[in-house]
Amino acid sequence: MYNSFYEGLKVLERRDTPLEADERIKAAAKPLLLWYGKNRRILPWREENTPYRVWVSEIMLQQTRVEAVKPYFSRFMEELPDIRALACVEEERLLKLWEGLGYYTRARNLKKAAKILTDKYDGEMPASYKDILSLPGIGSYTAGAVASIAFGIPEPAVDGNVLRVMTRIFADSEDITRPAVKKKYEGLLRTALLDISSAGPETSEILQKQFPVHTLPGNYNQAWIELGALICIPSGRPLCEECPLESLCLSKKEGRQEEFPVRAPKKPRRIEEKTVFVIEWKDRVAIRKRSARGLLASLYEFPNAEGHVEKKEAATVLKLAEEDIEDITVLPDSVHVFSHVEWHMTGYRVRLRNGCPENYKMVKKEEISSKYPVPSAFGVYTNALM
Ligand code: ADE
Repeated sequence: MYNSFYEGLKVLERRDTPLEADERIKAAAKPLLLWYGKNRRILPWREENTPYRVWVSEIMLQQTRVEAVKPYFSRFMEELPDIRALACVEEERLLKLWEGLGYYTRARNLKKAAKILTDKYDGEMPASYKDILSLPGIGSYTAGAVASIAFGIPEPAVDGNVLRVMTRIFADSEDITRPAVKKKYEGLLRTALLDISSAGPETSEILQKQFPVHTLPGNYNQAWIELGALICIPSGRPLCEECPLESLCLSKKEGRQEEFPVRAPKKPRRIEEKTVFVIEWKDRVAIRKRSARGLLASLYEFPNAEGHVEKKEAATVLKLAEEDIEDITVLPDSVHVFSHVEWHMTGYRVRLRNGCPENYKMVKKEEISSKYPVPSAFGVYTNALM
């Protein structure tokens, strides 16, 4: 066994026998951190890494690309600059700030957790992995990311991207959707993190020069994430020639990089057909609030019906009299893909003749962009507003 990760590469050079998993992961630390120091992207939540900023950014980055997150993150921080502001925000305003990011439960859990932090922790994120993990919407990945990046706690942050990198390094054909696989790599990385964190003063000094303002565990975790985002990429061939860990990577050695990760096939998505009605009268349009439970809970939508409704049936479906309708025109079809369901939508614009019917909530069209959270699943129909 060797003491510091610096010695890892020397071990690799000296030995003929394959490295054990823990030796391979330890040997990766130095080249990985040096690569990260030179190649890391400057991102808004990286440069000023307070616990609140790290937490919100990590939640936004789940299922969402970095470029898509950037404008949402800036807007969110401007309007809700700290945990107390988040705890007090009205849910409708919060959902409006989140509109377009999807997976709205993430936003609701942020607010729930902010309330707990305000009531129990004096409005601060606690510097404890276990306490962070106990908050709503926070799993081992997010807890590890916040604990390591914001507080320098040596806990790993293993998400799908890190699992991709790991299974390629180890040519590991286990199904990455199994929780045991994630646990295995969390264990391996936790040991490596403790090893780096306890490296001697010489090592710490060199790394401190490399990353003057950030914590070592935080940089270590983000280095794996960054390698997954920039080099060991998900679709297409990974850029192995530019990878600092090329010589350590077993799948590269075998020319099998693209066989990993292995993932059990997903259940096919359910298809739901819908007809969406953009019902207009003068400068107003009809909307309704979705149920408080289930998909897109409590968000607003245009009135819609199951199945594909024929134009001549529209008035009956909408419970409107023929003489109340000025005209009906066809709007473009649209498909929106959620994780488990696909909506296949057709749509009509229905212009009213005699004012707003009782059974619809008619709001000013400009309030669709300024006030009411209407999910991007209805984007084609929101864009059709005249
Ligand atoms: N994806 C998830 N977390 C990230 C981070 N901290 N930086 C860049 N991309 C990420």
